[in-house]
Amino acid sequence: MRVVILPDSQSVSIRAADIFCFVVEQYPDAVLGLATGGTPIGTYQELIRRNQTGQIRFAEATTFNLDEYVGLARTHPQSYWSFMHNNLFSHIDIATDRCYLPSGESDDIQEECHRYEELIEQSGGIDLQILGIGSDGHIGFNEPGSSLASRTRIKALTQRTRQDNARFFGSIDDVPQLAITMGVGTILEAELIVLLATGESKAEAVKNFIEGPVTSMVPASALQMHPNVIALLDAGAATLLQRRDYYNEVEQIQSALEGNHFL
Ligand code: GLP
Repeated sequence: MRVVILPDSQSVSIRAADIFCFVVEQYPDAVLGLATGGTPIGTYQELIRRNQTGQIRFAEATTFNLDEYVGLARTHPQSYWSFMHNNLFSHIDIATDRCYLPSGESDDIQEECHRYEELIEQSGGIDLQILGIGSDGHIGFNEPGSSLASRTRIKALTQRTRQDNARFFGSIDDVPQLAITMGVGTILEAELIVLLATGESKAEAVKNFIEGPVTSMVPASALQMHPNVIALLDAGAATLLQRRDYYNEVEQIQSALEGNHFL
């Protein structure tokens, strides 16, 4: 895992946008795995800016989101469908009929999960997957205890996750209890995975997933088993890492060798 510690959240957004640009320039028809939450918003804003100034085109790209709440109409302001349209899709040149999210409104959730897995497979698999991380170490909505081999399925959200996400809804009671999420096993099939974490509230989850054991109690720790992961952290999120100095040294050497920031 490449651990990149940057001074602030804006630098994290810019570096993440650089990686998107690098992938989409090489593969204009790239399949992009997208995340919701507060963390990737800065990256999406940077991508919108670059798209509107002609530095990146998404016209041929396909996207798959990690997850969606069950029971919210997709037009609900807090659905992840609305989030993605408001924060990215409606501002860029992407073909929205190739922007996929699981449907939390389906009558047959199991069939919907199966359909979603098939769609990802038919698209040729995800080239670049962006992830945030929950304060309990979850990725997507794979809560602690999730099988590290899990596929897209329905999950019950923990109280902690619902509390964390209550800020978007007004009250914890309005946060749905269930979600459809890509499984940890689904996520691990992406070619390149970039996890973004900013702020001290993520420091413990970051320490656990990078330096702790691989355990289903910290679903993000499964990324240690993937050969191509970049963790982009701001100083706050990196606070508790024991080997911070070493990651910084490696980063300096690697940047000098490669002449670019992220390969
Ligand atoms: C939700 C999402 C995750 C996201 C997490 C952290 O639970 N399902 O994909 O990583 O929130 O969100 P934030 O970036 O707002 O801290």
